[in-house]
Amino acid sequence: MAGSASEQRKSRWWRSTAGRVLAGVVTVATASAVLVTAPGADAAASTLGAAAAQSGRYFGTAIAAGKLSNSAYTTIAAREFNMVTPENEMKPDATEPNQNQFNFSAGDQVYNWAISHGSQVRGHTLAWHSQQPGWMQSMSGTTLRNAMINHIQKVMAHYQGKLAYWDVVNEAFNEDGSRRSSNLQGTGNDWIEVAFKTARAADPSTKLCYNDYNIDNWTYAKTQGVYNMVRDFKSRGVPIDCVGLQAHFTGGSSAPGNLQTTISSFAALGVDVALTEVDVTNASTSQYAALTQACVNVARCVGITVWGVRDSDSWRSGESPLLFDGNGNKKAAYTSVLNVLNGGGTTTPPTTTPTNPTTTPTNPGGGSCTASLSAGQSWNDRYNLNVSVSGSSSWTVTMTVPSPARISATWNVNATWPSSQVLVATPNGSGNNWGVTIQHNGNRNWPSVSCSAS
Ligand code: G3I
Repeated sequence: MAGSASEQRKSRWWRSTAGRVLAGVVTVATASAVLVTAPGADAAASTLGAAAAQSGRYFGTAIAAGKLSNSAYTTIAAREFNMVTPENEMKPDATEPNQNQFNFSAGDQVYNWAISHGSQVRGHTLAWHSQQPGWMQSMSGTTLRNAMINHIQKVMAHYQGKLAYWDVVNEAFNEDGSRRSSNLQGTGNDWIEVAFKTARAADPSTKLCYNDYNIDNWTYAKTQGVYNMVRDFKSRGVPIDCVGLQAHFTGGSSAPGNLQTTISSFAALGVDVALTEVDVTNASTSQYAALTQACVNVARCVGITVWGVRDSDSWRSGESPLLFDGNGNKKAAYTSVLNVLNGGGTTTPPTTTPTNPTTTPTNPGGGSCTASLSAGQSWNDRYNLNVSVSGSSSWTVTMTVPSPARISATWNVNATWPSSQVLVATPNGSGNNWGVTIQHNGNRNWPSVSCSAS
């Protein structure tokens, strides 16, 4: 499953060389740019989120609103993760308990906690046969189709511009690769593409995902069924940006040896791929390491989310499947994942030469501090920037990326995002050198930065 030793050496060479070459270019372009070591070249990060960010990825967790008052839980979650999926709070039964009466209180609670702790949010989920509100369960035909469309429009309008990804459709396939029979399927085979088209129109700023379990094994019929749907959608221009492999390796399942093939095959269709709900029976270190390596070996595998913080938070707590035990201690599997993220952050070199920024960084130096940018690693779809702050140890840096680019991850800094395009960063005790990953979405112009000291 993992790449060969020679592939990994080659990728490490690419990563460190590319960072140094690009940093050199910027030093020539602007005298105020500061040359710093590209993060991830050799450094070892000490949290999952920071380690994943070194290769432009995120590391996330499911968060339950009901646990946000538990400080042991939130301390770990805030420290380790930079992507949050609401475990139940954005599902249809939570957001539209009565038809056309929406309730976003629990979803907002998770969202607000996430962004105030430097995390982004994956929305989960808009159209699903399960966890439908009672009124929807008894619907069918055109009435249900219209209710689904209205639900997607209203929920996405509420979170417009705020979420990095949305699971538009969840678990719509049978194990044999056919469509799952449900009231939604009963409205017509086109219900999935109607859901995606509705979602694109409702919020063009977020990435639209199909999410399912048991689609990790490349030779499995269900994987092929979903793959064929995504291929069909791409060929016909139906909007779809990402596929989530839930990767529940519990309940008798285990990580298949061909997981990387599955990830790279979906990615080759032109979609982001993520492992979205990972848990592993007894937190097998070898399976956790292998699934992490399978992701970092594929450039377009954008991140990994585990389905809960501690074993006691898991929907399958009896299998102790997560990275922290019930007392909040790091398990051996935590270390195996962190080591892979730190050491095996291999990526496929871009197929085209990275485009250098067409604007040079500005250093307005408001107050008595200055923020300087230099290039980090770059991929086809995203790039890293190193930020170095001088003049003060008590600073606030505001960074604005040009639309439609968006900031997708940070490391070594406290970050909040007033919007997808704006980041406000303050020190987190890691010093004055930190970084960001930016999804350029076609606009490779660098962000503007300003710094103010207090
Ligand atoms: O909050 C109520 C509580 O008030 C009540 O006393 C209790 C009694 O049963 O139920 C509580 O709600 C439960 C809820 O989790 C919160 O704990 C629901 O019964 C229970 O059905 C629900 O389970 C969730 C499950 O999805 C529902 O399908 C799990 O937390 C959640 O982890 C799980 O997540 C799914 C993903 O969305 C999709 N992929 C599979 C994954 C695991 O099943």
